Amino acid sequence: MTADALRARAARLREEIEQHNHRYYVLDDPLITDAEFDRLFRELQDLEAAHPDFVTADSPTQRVGGIPAAEFSQAAHRQPMLSLNNAFDEVEVEAFDRRIREALGIDVVEYAVEPKFDGLAISLVYEGGVLVRGATRGDGYTGEEVTANLRTVRSIPLHLPAGAPDVVEVRGEVLMLRADFEQLNRKQQEQDGKLFANPRNAAAGSLRQLDSRITAGRKLTFYAYGLGFAEGLQQFKKHNQVIDFFKKNKFLVAPECAVVQGLPGLLEYYQRIGSARDGLPYDIDGVVYKVNSLAAQQQLGFVSRAPRFAVAHKFPAEEASSVVLGIDIQVGRTGALTPVARLQPVFVGGVNVTNATLHNEDEVRRKDVHVGDTVVVRRAGDVIPEVVRVSVPGPRRAEDCFEMPVLCPVCDSQVVRSEDEAIARCSGGLYCSAQRKQALLHFASRRAMDIEGLGERLVDQLVDLDLVRTPADLYTLNEQRLAGLERMAEKSAANITAAISKSRNTTLARLIYSLGIRNVGESTARDLAAHFGTLEALSQAGLESLQQVSDVGPVIAESVAQFFAEPHNREVIDGLQSAGVHYEPIAPRPVATGAAVGRIFVLTGTLPLLTRDDAKARIEAAGGRVTGSVSKKTDFVVAGAEAGSKLEKALALGLTILDEQGLLDLLEKKE
Ligand code: IVH
Repeated sequence: MTADALRARAARLREEIEQHNHRYYVLDDPLITDAEFDRLFRELQDLEAAHPDFVTADSPTQRVGGIPAAEFSQAAHRQPMLSLNNAFDEVEVEAFDRRIREALGIDVVEYAVEPKFDGLAISLVYEGGVLVRGATRGDGYTGEEVTANLRTVRSIPLHLPAGAPDVVEVRGEVLMLRADFEQLNRKQQEQDGKLFANPRNAAAGSLRQLDSRITAGRKLTFYAYGLGFAEGLQQFKKHNQVIDFFKKNKFLVAPECAVVQGLPGLLEYYQRIGSARDGLPYDIDGVVYKVNSLAAQQQLGFVSRAPRFAVAHKFPAEEASSVVLGIDIQVGRTGALTPVARLQPVFVGGVNVTNATLHNEDEVRRKDVHVGDTVVVRRAGDVIPEVVRVSVPGPRRAEDCFEMPVLCPVCDSQVVRSEDEAIARCSGGLYCSAQRKQALLHFASRRAMDIEGLGERLVDQLVDLDLVRTPADLYTLNEQRLAGLERMAEKSAANITAAISKSRNTTLARLIYSLGIRNVGESTARDLAAHFGTLEALSQAGLESLQQVSDVGPVIAESVAQFFAEPHNREVIDGLQSAGVHYEPIAPRPVATGAAVGRIFVLTGTLPLLTRDDAKARIEAAGGRVTGSVSKKTDFVVAGAEAGSKLEKALALGLTILDEQGLLDLLEKKE
């Protein structure tokens, strides 16, 4: 055969193999035997081995995994991957439906309804019909690029059929089917490998492998449920048409996807899926309701980080009974003392539970929990297990009653509880080794400085041996020091010092978050970073300028100012900086040169993602001006949902109207 003919043969084989993959993994209706499939696959492998230039990124041979990666790279999402609000009972579902009916002004809403998969949210980007990027959700804005691993998932098409849109992002859930999970655990047991507690953990562990060959050996499955951004895609009117588009493009979608009318339709669906739940091939933790009309979705928009047009109706959390063996006190990062029930191990919600939180002193009293009682324990999804109530009281001797200690059980400092707070706190601050440990764990955590391998056991030793007092001390550790510790092989000591060293190069948002300032979570840290640009600017900001940041009110402003007023904290920051911790400074707002410079904007209605303050800040940063009323001098009217008279006037004057995307595009445009 000529080279051209061989190349054509390879292309033909790729096509055929992918068709058989689809029949097998998506339609569950294979046409050929496994042996026949293997023969085709081997032929393609041989051809590609002989002619490496035949290999394409979307070749099915790439599904077996490749060279291990040193680390995952970060993948910024072009559109944030948001989360869903939850409804825990019918009353909350009713309220959801009422809000929608009122906002849309209609009597009966049509909903697309789906199972809520208990897996991991994933984004797949196809360009020119080829899968070019797969990423985890991460914090919703930036995830981890796991393309090589996702290519091994057989139900993910490596390319789309002809006629695919130029660019399309498909979102959905990667999970492990129950049967595949059982099989994996059997295999792990035989090989003395690690057992996974539940399919979700197994899926997460399999996807976060740097060696994609390991992922390829685990059976993962992908279900599509939503579109991200798209270019050159036909306009859909309804969500169920999007689902049909997925099917036509060879994605797997849940067969339970349906369309129902109004509240009765929702509740019936909930019942139906609830009774079918145990027989489904995958774990679900509820159902999802989405307004079916995409125009109505647009109109409803988003509140903070979740859409108004959808809700997750959760199944009740799993409960089990166990005996309280003791009540311990845990000291948290901010000194909060939390009573925790030590339990006889019990399997609930997919994991073995040995501890369950009692939240605080008042809750222990209210629930009247004593050591020796039999209690109901609840665990839902990823949340910490909790004690719900006493089912059978124990002997209740005098010593079985819980008392909040007056001194911190870790550092002996006074425990204080202010009148208006339910939480008792250790007053030891960073003198308290428990608080120091928690602060270090937070500093090293994935969303903060992301120091892999710096876990609880190691931090305990580092603090107990006084090798590390503050986060800055971490950067003074060397391999020899670490290798001397318990259960620390040379190799892991090297890995950890490498991970610590790597974390020097970070982002301002992560650095702010890692400091553990009270009331400053990830998203606030991100807002502060974008606003101030440098740690110096943030540390010098007064209460007033802090409150200019969107979503920062007096409470957060006070926490931030207090944090930086504390000399000890300034020392730690200096220490970090002299240890070489650095970030790419966020460019101070450049002298604007874009298409918005000098233009006058009017904002009206509710935008899907941006708050009005955000939109205004962005326009101003790009050199534009925002005014309150529409006139002939207005250049652009940015209109969102429920835009009223201003929009009418703009239309009458023939002004340029932008939607949110239009605004964002314009702000990016250089003149
Ligand atoms: S839609 C803007 N549909 O739930 C809404 N999410 O709490 C985006 N999930 O991170 C989500 N099944 O991992 C949607 N049928 C479904 C889902 C689903 C599971 C997960 C998803 C997301 C989380 C949101």
